Amino acid sequence: MRAPRLLLPALASVLALLVAAVVWLNRPSGTPPPVAATTDPVAQVERGAYLARVGNCAGCHTARGGAAYAGGTAIGTPFGTVYAPNLTPDAATGIGAWSSDAFWRALHDGRAADGRLLAPVCPYPNYTQIGRDDVADLHAYLRSLPPVAQPNRLHALRWPYGTQPALAVWRALYFRPGTPAADRGAYLVGGLGHCSACHGQRNAWGATGGALDLRGGSIPTQGWVAPALDDPREAGVADWPLADIAALLRTGHSPQAVASGPMALVVARSTQHLTDADALAMARFLKALPQRGTPAAPSPPPDAATLALGARLYERHCADCHGAGGEGSPGAVPALAGNRAVVMDAPDNLLRVVLGGGFGPATAARPQPHGMPPYATLLSDAEIAAVVSFLRASWGHRAAPVNALDVNRQRGS
Ligand code: HEC
Ligand code: HEC
Ligand code: HEC
Repeated sequence: MRAPRLLLPALASVLALLVAAVVWLNRPSGTPPPVAATTDPVAQVERGAYLARVGNCAGCHTARGGAAYAGGTAIGTPFGTVYAPNLTPDAATGIGAWSSDAFWRALHDGRAADGRLLAPVCPYPNYTQIGRDDVADLHAYLRSLPPVAQPNRLHALRWPYGTQPALAVWRALYFRPGTPAADRGAYLVGGLGHCSACHGQRNAWGATGGALDLRGGSIPTQGWVAPALDDPREAGVADWPLADIAALLRTGHSPQAVASGPMALVVARSTQHLTDADALAMARFLKALPQRGTPAAPSPPPDAATLALGARLYERHCADCHGAGGEGSPGAVPALAGNRAVVMDAPDNLLRVVLGGGFGPATAARPQPHGMPPYATLLSDAEIAAVVSFLRASWGHRAAPVNALDVNRQRGS
């Protein structure tokens, strides 16, 4: 009977220590750094408007068809759905009553004005690196918007994920307040631009390896994979000219690639607005990222019948636009021969494009991009698998075939 009597107090003290550690790691950070005095409020609002675009705040905080920044957008996560809150200066339902310091704590500490811990769906693990003056400019911009009275929707997260203790434990494990990076490119990619929110590799608890984790990963609940920015076989751009990288960010098109799906939205809502200097700073940073040298593992082609069916379907449905040899047509339709999006290990994006079709981002540079029709209703799972497997085994490609089940799984997501 001795052991249990000692065990209980021992367990209790371990538990108390863990709770103390979680509380300590979630302590509010002290007084925010001082804000530089602004002499020109109009210029400050303009700077804030630019920063809000670079941070793509509207991407989540403006609902489709809803008032700007009034929130309400449903965002799916593996743990349930969250709803972006109202950021307009309405005092009752928005953040009109928030002080400048309270707003800073939201972005820097992930803490609401009432002290509530925020879900990291708002990418504050990145925004924590935004400098104090930029946060003040963002706040000034949001305060300049027309107030919209729209109450926030309650999140629909499965128990216990949305609870404050669960968030506190998550934050103790995975979140530390940050400081602004000195290099402008790192500042934009890791902080405001929050590229790692998609291009980072998330663990089972939804945490990436940090603000500059760009190892690539699947975007939960959307069926897209954000390719690795540190791998030349995926989305690494180390061997692209700087101007091409900047062009991809500014227009969604470069001689090497087009932005599709979630990346097309990022370009349309955010990166097309980058100044030349900022687009180049990001490009320089991405180009200099140390690249992984994982060699491609060549895969045997699909069986002859599948290959023949794929070739026939390609000829009938795709060759008019993409060319008999997959050469595309420069400036209008991307080449499929030698295209990384076609041979990437994970076929998810490829399947999404063929099923759903799509447009590149509409940008000031390209208001009416060429489109690609959807094939979801025109072709069966087996036919889409065949044409995609044909693409992955033609023109020197050696990527693994996909099967009808893979296609069916993509239809579901
Ligand atoms: C990927 C989607 C996403 C992006 C991008 C995003 N947010 Fe959020 N934001 C959210 C969600 C979801 C919440 C709610 C979190 C919660 O309640 O726990 C939130 C909460 C907030 C809050 C707290 C508001 C409140 O009433 O509690 C502020 C302030 C905020 N975001 C500001 C911003 C700013 C400024 C930007 C751009 C620099 C931004 N957000 C970009 C999704 C996003
Ligand atoms: C909302 C999720 C999301 C965010 C945020 C995001 N990306 Fe992407 N990105 C994607 C997806 C998905 C793809 C793959 C589809 C494609 O190729 O366009 C992609 C592709 C890319 C590519 C490769 C394009 C190609 O086809 O070779 C580059 C480069 C890139 N992203 C850079 C960035 C940078 C820089 C940022 C931050 C400013 C960023 N992304 C933010 C989702 C995202
Ligand atoms: C009407 C012309 C047209 C037809 C027909 C067409 N495509 Fe496309 N396709 C496009 C355009 C334009 C894009 C670029 C869209 C964008 O910018 O997102 C594209 C993009 C793609 C991409 C993505 C390339 C990348 O770099 O991300 C793939 C893969 C693709 N098409 C495959 C196919 C297949 C397979 C078929 C036949 C089943 C097909 N396309 C039929 C015009 C077409």
